[in-house]
Amino acid sequence: MDFKIAVLAGDGIGPEISEQGVAVMTAVCEKFGHTVSYEYAICGADAIDKVGDPFPEETFQTCLRADAVLFSAVGDPKYDNDPTSKVRPEQGLLAMRKGLGLYANIRPIETFDCLVHKSPLKDELVRGADFICIRELTGGMYFGEKYQDNDRAYDTNVYTRGEIERILRVGFEYARRRQHHLTVVDKANILASSRLWRQIAQEMEPQYPDVRVDYMYVDNASMRMLQEPRFFDVIVTENTFGDILTDEASCITGSMGLLPSASTGDHTPVFEPVHGSWPQAAGKNIANPLAQILSVAMLFEYFGLMEEGRVIREAVRASLDAHVRTPEIQVEGGATYGTREVGEWIVKRLTPNPSL
Ligand code: IPM
Ligand code: MN
Repeated sequence: MDFKIAVLAGDGIGPEISEQGVAVMTAVCEKFGHTVSYEYAICGADAIDKVGDPFPEETFQTCLRADAVLFSAVGDPKYDNDPTSKVRPEQGLLAMRKGLGLYANIRPIETFDCLVHKSPLKDELVRGADFICIRELTGGMYFGEKYQDNDRAYDTNVYTRGEIERILRVGFEYARRRQHHLTVVDKANILASSRLWRQIAQEMEPQYPDVRVDYMYVDNASMRMLQEPRFFDVIVTENTFGDILTDEASCITGSMGLLPSASTGDHTPVFEPVHGSWPQAAGKNIANPLAQILSVAMLFEYFGLMEEGRVIREAVRASLDAHVRTPEIQVEGGATYGTREVGEWIVKRLTPNPSL
């Protein structure tokens, strides 16, 4: 394949992990005979500082021209504690999601046996947990009508049939490719929007007789995730519930720094780590590049290049086994590796050595 990749490194640790993701992308393309070119574009606080817009038109055009976007992270503390600031890095993220029509956010939650002890949950509960959260990403309260004055404010949780059907379809299809178990998470005892979700899911069930569907209220789902994470195979839910549940899900594996994600929809798909911009670590060469590197694996898999994805996953596992790890997951007495060193080790492992 001939890949055209838009690289959006963003803020904080973004540029450092981005560099490692790009290096892995290049190495795998070389190994498998694909060609790849990169176009870099600004976003987030970096873009606000430079041009006053967290997702400038030029960046949008770069994304539209590309086959895929390799995204890193946005966010800067200087905007976090200022409710009056008119423009915020996160708006760039929302503009990208809307602009590219990225309605399906796929967050796989996988445990790594050697990191299970880092989980806040008991080892026997979390070991082997492996599920996917599918979060609707361009509707609901995030994008519904909003209002705010000094005494009253509201956000509207609006969903149309078309929006619900297309994301549920993604859920059913994923379940079909996995363990055939779909959990639709909603708040249908209270919310009209949730009742429509549930109604449409029930209407669609007969089209997927091989998929077992259950319906769970979001409060119950958040509890179940802690009590029995292995219960889940594929979760599908609306934007706000998905935002909250995926943060919960990401930390129970004990390896948040290893979780990649994909956002797909009408235009160019985006691949990015689940973790944020970790501004305190910026420039220190300590951030874990594995989530970004695994995002590259998801990118290849999206294009049906499963072997390319597999070798990346294998190299990531090998680096963990060899204790080539960034400080937050290093074993006691283990050597010190930085973002760059972990990335370079993985690239070396992926690069065929003609002298051998
Ligand atoms: C996420 C983030 C974003 C969201 C923020 C940064 C806008 O938390 O991707 O989950 O709420 O969607
Ligand atoms: Mn979130």
